[in-house]
Amino acid sequence: MPAGEAPRGRPPTSHERQSGQPWDASYRDGPAPWDIDEPQPAVVRLAEAEAFAGPVLDAGCGTGDNGLYLAARGLPVVGIDVAETAVAIANRRAADHGLDATFTVGDALDLRPLGRQFRTVLDCGLFHTFDATERRVYVASLAGVVEPGATVHILCFSDVGPAPGPHPVSRAELAQPFASDARWQVVAIEPETLRTRFSDASPAWSATVRRARG
Ligand SMILES: C[S@@+](CC[C@H](N)C(=O)[O-])C[C@H]1O[C@@H](n2cnc3c(N)ncnc32)[C@H](O)[C@@H]1O
Repeated sequence: MPAGEAPRGRPPTSHERQSGQPWDASYRDGPAPWDIDEPQPAVVRLAEAEAFAGPVLDAGCGTGDNGLYLAARGLPVVGIDVAETAVAIANRRAADHGLDATFTVGDALDLRPLGRQFRTVLDCGLFHTFDATERRVYVASLAGVVEPGATVHILCFSDVGPAPGPHPVSRAELAQPFASDARWQVVAIEPETLRTRFSDASPAWSATVRRARG
């Protein structure tokens, strides 16, 4: 990282190198731009369509807006994030509401320490923070923690339309890291929107990826 503070115990991600700040810094001085204090409407739409089965991994969980919503719907949830401050907030919120959700500090690029398997992964806003090399590592990391037949839902800013988010991803870039492992099937990549504190509807993708049963 060119300046600022280095993250503890892991190499900085491409985003941290670019910004010169660890992810945790985003959470220290009030809400981050993506911290909307409620679940993403796109996550609510998925949940109402019964797209989640527990246990759910919320990868890059932040302060838990989405994971806590899924836990409140009765799903066991584990969240992971590199930002200690966000994880502490998420755990406090889970305890305050008596929800079956555990949030842990960890790196989605190496999920092995979780030591368990998930039936659904939610990635809301993490994939688009990674560069192409990290995305390949991330997808391999996911392969180690999903049950056969599991589903991965990725919500990320897209390159479609005006004023996309800060890290727009093309449809091809979204599918690409899954292409080298035949046990992944990209079932759908549909246009969606993501809400931030500055925009009600930034252009996004909702990708559904399935892990083979065999
Ligand atoms: C745009 S925020 C989205 C947070 C949350 N999912 C939401 O929708 O509010 C991206 C999150 O990914 C986390 N993150 C970035 N790199 C990570 C990594 N390698 N492993 C785990 N979390 C990471 C950041 O700390 C941040 O909380």
